[in-house]
Amino acid sequence: MRTVIVYESMYGNTHAVATAIADGMRGGPEVTVVQVAEATSDLVAAADLLVVGGPTHAHGMSSSYSRADAIETAGKDEDLHLDDAAYGPGLRGWFDELAEGQQRRCAAFDTRFDGPVVLTGRASRGIERRLHRHGYESVVAPESFLVDKGNHLVDGELDRAMAWGSELAQALVET
Ligand SMILES: Cc1cc2nc3c(=O)[nH]c(=O)nc-3n(C[C@H](O)[C@H](O)[C@H](O)COP(=O)(O)O)c2cc1C
Repeated sequence: MRTVIVYESMYGNTHAVATAIADGMRGGPEVTVVQVAEATSDLVAAADLLVVGGPTHAHGMSSSYSRADAIETAGKDEDLHLDDAAYGPGLRGWFDELAEGQQRRCAAFDTRFDGPVVLTGRASRGIERRLHRHGYESVVAPESFLVDKGNHLVDGELDRAMAWGSELAQALVET
């Protein structure tokens, strides 16, 4: 059982969550964590479970504009550091090239501000919709992991990400 976790990340939070999800799955299936630029069609085609996550921008998935905005914001805030993935491609373009999933399994997650989802939006909805359009089937409901107003993960979110990873590994065994 192979799992590939693909993340998009500007400030490193979604990257950290992806790594924590993988940690939560250890002992279960073989897990590879890659940023979008490294998620090649061969790697993805070999996965029994494809997990995809990204930051929420403007209530949904990022765009080239919101990604440029995020880079500009980081330039003005010394508390924000750009992730290695920040200058790479975003998930929208990657999905355009994604091959048919042939009913293989998937899960979607995002990071977003801590607040009611009606106010914040969530990228994981668009991510899951795209996975389904490509023929993937969800094993668990999409999940959000929360950041504060300064774009830093809220305490306890990495533990929650590990627990979600463990839930995913369990769901894989049971389905
Ligand atoms: C341009 C931009 C737009 C954003 N819009 C939203 C939003 O509409 N809703 C929300 O909850 N968070 C929003 N955020 C906060 C991001 O969700 C947050 O920066 C992200 O989860 C951090 O993940 P990362 O460190 O992996 O980039 C926005 C951030 C940026 C930079």
